[in-house]
Amino acid sequence: MAQKEIQIKEVLSDKIVKTVTFKVKKFDPEKDKKPYYKEYKVPVYRGMTVLDGLIYVKEDLDGTVNFRYSCRMGICGSCGMFINGKPRMACMTQILDLNSDTIEIQPLPNYDNIRDLVPDSTPLFEKHKKIKPYLIREDVKEQENPIGEYYQTPEEHEYYSQFSFCIKCGLCLAACPSVASDPEYLGPQALTQAYRYSVDTRDEGFLQRVMVVDDPHGCWRCHYAGACSEVCPKGVDPAKAIQLLKGLILKYRLGLKKKRKGAGVIPAHPRPGIKKAPKRTVPQES
Ligand code: SF4
Ligand code: SF4
Ligand code: FES
Repeated sequence: MAQKEIQIKEVLSDKIVKTVTFKVKKFDPEKDKKPYYKEYKVPVYRGMTVLDGLIYVKEDLDGTVNFRYSCRMGICGSCGMFINGKPRMACMTQILDLNSDTIEIQPLPNYDNIRDLVPDSTPLFEKHKKIKPYLIREDVKEQENPIGEYYQTPEEHEYYSQFSFCIKCGLCLAACPSVASDPEYLGPQALTQAYRYSVDTRDEGFLQRVMVVDDPHGCWRCHYAGACSEVCPKGVDPAKAIQLLKGLILKYRLGLKKKRKGAGVIPAHPRPGIKKAPKRTVPQES
């Protein structure tokens, strides 16, 4: 172990406030017939997250424990786990806030399990891809050789802003009873993004997304219980987005929604006092 890490651990050892038992679900499909639990004693200091605890287990007690993480700050969306009966981000969950001497950690439900605490997130990303999560425009020429920026007012941005905070952690799918009963249901993450792009004034792709979301496995499967919004770590409120999406579709089916022309382009012109961008250090792909 690096000298610096040893020093950090020595400093923290003064701050230990209690010891908590981590009850971790283990499963290696190549070796185990079924999942089982293994327990670890974790010394806890103020400010320690469940992810910090798991890293302690992996580094100091059992290197075989598998889990996924990257940023440690609620941004990358990769550390979702089922912690004390609820889908949560391990890096955003303070151990002391759980107010329990035992912390049971399982992989997220509604996903296949790759190993230990690692879910197979493929369905999350496949469903996300299905709704075409990008601006769809007819002005192909402008997109290939842009002359400026698409115009959007702060108010128009505010209209979908909350729904764009999604970090693709997939906690909402783990909490959703409709995903549990119909694995093909598009689910709260993808449907929220379908709404987010469809109300973006720069987008012209609503008709393409309707084909995907107005489907037996689409938005009508949602019965608005709100479990997704309750667990979302970014306050996205997918349950609300889905109801708004249903409203858009109804309007469209009743012939009340007109085809919208996407926002126009403001030609780019250099503003005074802004320096020229430095040359690229990596060649741009043609
Ligand atoms: S509100 Fe809809 S999407 Fe959200 S958990 Fe309930 S059924 Fe699932
Ligand atoms: S809507 Fe919330 S819970 Fe669902 S994937 Fe996005 S950030 Fe995660
Ligand atoms: S490690 Fe990135 S969100 Fe938790």
